[in-house]
Amino acid sequence: MIHRPRRLRATAAHRRLVREHTLRTADLILPMFVREGLEEPQPISSLPGVVQHDLSSLRGAAREAAELGLGGIMLFGVPEEKDATGTGGVDPDGILNRALREVRREVGDDILVMSDLCLDEFTDHGHCGVLGADGTVDNDATLEVYAEMARQQADAGAHIVAPSGMMDGQVRVIRDALDEHGRTDVGIYAYTAKYSSAFYGPFREAVNSSLTGDRRTYQQDSANSAEALRELELDVAEGADLVMVKPGLPYLDVLSQVAEASPVPVGVYQVSGEYAMIEAASANGWLDRDRTVLESLLAFKRAGASSVLTYYAAHAARLLRERP
Ligand code: PBG
Repeated sequence: MIHRPRRLRATAAHRRLVREHTLRTADLILPMFVREGLEEPQPISSLPGVVQHDLSSLRGAAREAAELGLGGIMLFGVPEEKDATGTGGVDPDGILNRALREVRREVGDDILVMSDLCLDEFTDHGHCGVLGADGTVDNDATLEVYAEMARQQADAGAHIVAPSGMMDGQVRVIRDALDEHGRTDVGIYAYTAKYSSAFYGPFREAVNSSLTGDRRTYQQDSANSAEALRELELDVAEGADLVMVKPGLPYLDVLSQVAEASPVPVGVYQVSGEYAMIEAASANGWLDRDRTVLESLLAFKRAGASSVLTYYAAHAARLLRERP
């Protein structure tokens, strides 16, 4: 035998030399929840180890994320009151905007502060936009609200806004709104290929969602991958600085195709259901948590992601310190 691929797998030193992909702490973005009216952090039962923060614990956790060297944090707000148009999302004193202000004051430019730009946490019907007379989500009316959210989030200190509502034209409207507001410096991390997915289950608990139906009229059908490339083309043309595929592991094929085609950096979101699966299996002793976490995150890098949103971001950063 002339070729023996096992030769290069013989020792850790061999394997290190020929490793093709690496997971870095700076690739990781930690999604965080902040809930109005809390005085102490509140656990989320379907996401063991993840909490709804109060403003003070959020500041502390953001500081810790910066000290760990994470690439960013992504903030989601959970308001006390919801209404049909999601007023809490545009209110400068709404929970998400207050949190952005406090966190940005805490961390400055030590870590990128990103904000979810979507209405679902703020609407009483739980949809990502405002509803029209026929009860379906009104795309263009929603865009006007997103434009105002973008201005408010920029004023509150977001380095990057992340529109996750899958409305047509959302990136363009947000880019225009930011530019006209004098904020050409604020970036857009677009949820570009976001699928209507059962894997978001635990997130609904995390944001006290009021949704009863589903999001199939605006999020992508999981049967499609060519459609993700069409969405990519549109978001890039509309001015996205970064694009995202979501969920992660069940959509590695989509991630790989998008990464291949994209002229801008591509990220991926390891969503709540993916986290919950690893947690549940590990709690039963069926999976080795730490190995599974690192392997799943590395898979995203191999598939072409440059950044990864994961509830494991801080945990993985600590693991990477121990075994780089
Ligand atoms: C919508 C949004 C969702 C998630 C992130 N942003 C929920 C949805 O689209 O239904 C899900 C994230 C996760 O499951 O971890 N603002």
